[in-house]
Amino acid sequence: MNRNRISPATADAITRAAEKLRAGQLVGMPTETVYGLAADATNGEAIARIYEAKNRPRFNPLIAHVSDLEMARQLVVFTPEAERLATAFWPGPLTLVLPRRPDCPVSELASAGLDTLAVRCPGHAVARSLIAATGRPLVAPSANPSGAISPTTAQHVADGLGNRVDIILDGGACSVGLESTVIGFDGETPLLLRKGGIGRQEIEAVAGRLGSPAPDAPKASPGMLASHYAPAASLRINAKSPRSGEVYLGFGPDWPADLNLSPTGRLDEAAANLFAYLRRLDASGARAIAVAPIPDKGLGEAINDRLRRAAAPRDLS
Ligand code: TXA
Ligand code: MG
Repeated sequence: MNRNRISPATADAITRAAEKLRAGQLVGMPTETVYGLAADATNGEAIARIYEAKNRPRFNPLIAHVSDLEMARQLVVFTPEAERLATAFWPGPLTLVLPRRPDCPVSELASAGLDTLAVRCPGHAVARSLIAATGRPLVAPSANPSGAISPTTAQHVADGLGNRVDIILDGGACSVGLESTVIGFDGETPLLLRKGGIGRQEIEAVAGRLGSPAPDAPKASPGMLASHYAPAASLRINAKSPRSGEVYLGFGPDWPADLNLSPTGRLDEAAANLFAYLRRLDASGARAIAVAPIPDKGLGEAINDRLRRAAAPRDLS
């Protein structure tokens, strides 16, 4: 279980973790969305180790995490639209995909062959302290084996990646619980590449109407595989009640459930609980999980996106 790799995120532990990052090692990093598997974004060998540890397809690019907007400006070219979004939502669960600067110090491995780089300034103070202490941007995919459920506690990271990570900073359970919303651009038009911790309406209030990537542009959003976030148990969504042999994951007051994502029907609470509850039902030995309908508005859009992927036929080797 490697409990010994988990360390409370004290100032001292952050200093030690930053030293490890500068030496090319991997660190489990708490963020407000999910835990990340962090590496020095300027170190190609360290990035290669991330792809190996997660068994992640090499065509799936990584997000460079920055401690502030100033650091992001050294990596990518900001348009006025991107600037507005960063100002409104950073630090927080928003990732912007922008053209790399010609002098961008982040390894091209992080971009997986694209001429863009995804950047995000996380809302969790430990993450920002770690980036600042390292003095470099950090790439950090979710700290789970590729295709599995994202981790929302330090113990989830230890359970999934064990001895492949050199230290895991414990910054508590993630408050958002879903990955960041990823926005790309087609000229000035913002495109919703991944639904996530900030709802569509909130973003549209700042950026105007969001477009969708063209279906014939498969590279616009390389990480959006149909099957992802998959528990070991099978998953049935929009289930008004469980069938025989199923455990029931409820939402709201009306559902007599084995576990309830939010008994009061709050979407933010459901988002924060989603991945941990799927893991808990898996660990209980459940073979089949049925999930109550979740309203498809606000954070519910991202929750339903993750549930659809978790329920999809497994297409990962
Ligand atoms: O909340 C989050 O974003 C978490 C925490 C740790 O920050 N990180 C995360 O990383 O979810 P990851 O690697 O699991 O997902 C990154 C997503 C993928 O869908 C990837 O394809 C997309 O962002 N992405 C990264 N760089 C891109 C780029 N240059 N163009 C288009 N999509 C990109
Ligand atoms: Mg991920």
